[in-house]
Amino acid sequence: MGVTADPLFDLTGKTAVVTGASGVLCSEIAIALADRGAKVALLGRTLKNVEAVSTTIKAKGGSSKAYSCDVMVVEALENVRKEINRDLGTCDILINGAGGNHPDATTQNPVYDHQNQNTRTFFDMPVSAFQQTFDLNLVGTLLPIKIFARDMVDKHESVVLNVSSMSAFNPLTKVPAYSGAKAAVNNLTQWLATYFAPVNMRVNAIAPGFFLTSQNKQLLTNEDGSLTPRAQQIIANTPMKRFGDPGDLCGTVIWLCSDASRFVTGVVIPVDGGFSAFGGV
Ligand SMILES: NC(=O)c1ccc[n+]([C@@H]2O[C@H](COP(=O)([O-])OP(=O)(O)OC[C@H]3O[C@@H](n4cnc5c(N)ncnc54)[C@H](O)[C@@H]3O)[C@@H](O)[C@H]2O)c1
Repeated sequence: MGVTADPLFDLTGKTAVVTGASGVLCSEIAIALADRGAKVALLGRTLKNVEAVSTTIKAKGGSSKAYSCDVMVVEALENVRKEINRDLGTCDILINGAGGNHPDATTQNPVYDHQNQNTRTFFDMPVSAFQQTFDLNLVGTLLPIKIFARDMVDKHESVVLNVSSMSAFNPLTKVPAYSGAKAAVNNLTQWLATYFAPVNMRVNAIAPGFFLTSQNKQLLTNEDGSLTPRAQQIIANTPMKRFGDPGDLCGTVIWLCSDASRFVTGVVIPVDGGFSAFGGV
């Protein structure tokens, strides 16, 4: 396996647990961690999907194992922790990648249109969809930390990396629940960083900009593949003038998971082509 020559970025022998590991972004992240020498535990709800990622890692000479696990189910997390400890060793690096928006927690228009009530407005959004979005993004981040950090606190050198979003800083239109939940992930990241600093468990987050994935395809592309007005607006507000490629996240992730960032904790790093830096004018 192509372990880096630079020991600052080397993850050899580390056990990395990645949730949402069959997803567009986290499958790429998992492969990058294995490329740096980590033994990667791939967690996903559907075993065959995470197995496919594991097959890719192994084909490149890396070390990984796939596990079926829903991040909302404490018992499943407890069981998978035991399995991982047995198979790959206790967790050194936890990446909380499982997340996403609930389609019903979305308004149809970016702002309220008093004249046109034939659209899904704020008033039509079921509270249950709001709650499910908070559960997945916030509780689905909290629970794996509660379970895996039990092993990490004894190590005096461990890393949690949460996955936030642009909508955590300034809420994006249409997705109030997702925005609120990711803002809470940022806050939790800072709280945990302070709390666990005495045992050198670093807690950081990345805030990816806009990546065209299955999750947001509906919002960003028309049926013919052309960009929706919203997607055009995003590109207009992204100084680097493109959507992200999942591989764009890997350098930042390796930095935050390795000794290279050993004095960095409690930060949320935008990986966004400049979106969050641009004031729009
Ligand atoms: N795609 C983007 O542009 C973008 C931007 C900012 C943040 N993000 C965040 O990045 C992370 C990864 O998103 P993605 O774009 O790769 O989406 P994705 O849908 O491809 O990946 C999300 C993964 O989480 C899994 N998941 C969902 N619920 C789960 C549960 N209860 N238990 C276990 N796994 C569960 C899904 O099966 C999927 O594999 C998410 O937290 C998302 O909010 C994405």
